[in-house]
Amino acid sequence: MPNGKKITISVIKADVGGFVGHSSFHPALLDMAKEKLGNAKDKGIVADFHVIRCGDDLELIMSHDKGCDNKAIHELAWNIFTACTEAAKELKLYGAGQDLLKDAFTGTVKGMGPGVAEMEFVERKSEPVIIFMADKTSSGAWNLPLYKIFGDPFNTAGLVIDPSMADGFCFNVLDVKEDKSIMLSCPEETYCLLALIGATSRYMVTSVYRKKDKEITAVASTERLGFIAGKYVGKDDPVMIVRCQSGLPAVGEVLEAFSFPYLVRGWMRGSHNGPLMPVPFYEANPTRFDGPPRVIAAGFQIANGRLIGPHDMFDDPSFDETRKKANHVAEYMRRHGPFEPHRLPLEDMEYTTLPHVLGKLKHRFEKH
Ligand code: 13P
Ligand code: 13P
Ligand code: MG
Ligand code: MG
Repeated sequence: MPNGKKITISVIKADVGGFVGHSSFHPALLDMAKEKLGNAKDKGIVADFHVIRCGDDLELIMSHDKGCDNKAIHELAWNIFTACTEAAKELKLYGAGQDLLKDAFTGTVKGMGPGVAEMEFVERKSEPVIIFMADKTSSGAWNLPLYKIFGDPFNTAGLVIDPSMADGFCFNVLDVKEDKSIMLSCPEETYCLLALIGATSRYMVTSVYRKKDKEITAVASTERLGFIAGKYVGKDDPVMIVRCQSGLPAVGEVLEAFSFPYLVRGWMRGSHNGPLMPVPFYEANPTRFDGPPRVIAAGFQIANGRLIGPHDMFDDPSFDETRKKANHVAEYMRRHGPFEPHRLPLEDMEYTTLPHVLGKLKHRFEKH
């Protein structure tokens, strides 16, 4: 891809079956996905790719010149997920095909179960990109770090020091219940932004732009599996792409937002609040009470469409204290057992199996 031409980064993910339970991913399926994407690269469908997994989620990272929401790219991802699901069924892996909610491909994977984050941009002289992938949490989990990265000068020194960031950033926020979105401009609309995105189950930051030139700088997946399926079928473990440096937050400023193990929805049965623990790739195997929730960060330098990397960004002892704190918080939260606020509030349990339990008790209630 020569300089000046737009490239697209597509991250498309799905849970095609867990090994063992929901904790991790079987290597045979990783190999299968790599082989299929290798064939697609030979045919020129993608420029480059990287296959990785976080917990039980298969993550396809692709670069190409076809733009966002492209049928060929989405169909490729869908076909890989269905092939891996077949292999997962043979091994009787847990929840095989869990995130594939439709039978046949319909032109886009959006609304079919997989999570999607895509952005199209002209490659800069140097293009550092970090791809965040989480397991045992849900869409909306990126609201807090996105605010810190692009809106909080106590996190991002560049907002104060770098004149090219002085105008601030615009946040595109989706109301998942009403299916409407709003663009808010920071710093001047910071309070309005926080009023919305603090409610992480309803309002989700979908993308962030640099205000002065509308340059795209972050995109997040916002699929809600429960809404699509109408029942609990696993959580919508989200992904996010962030561009860094040269008038955008530095790599270290982007990562700094994860130094606090904030509470997210997910964990056991997708029904509990727990701390988000940043881990190196090899530690993304949530086992204690199916958690606590994990996030990994894959760093790439993009060179003419090639994905140079990944570098394992959380494989750094400077995140040890964060992980330690996450374990303390996990222990503290666990002691609440089935009580809120460890267990999610009732409205968030709507798509789980809890309403069936409560339904059985309905006829036994008497007037008080
Ligand atoms: P850039 O402005 O060149 O991205 O550098 C910022 C920096 O030095 C980060 O530590
Ligand atoms: P996943 O969404 O990662 O499949 O986890 C589901 C679950 O129920 C964990 O306890
Ligand atoms: Mg699973
Ligand atoms: Mg998962």
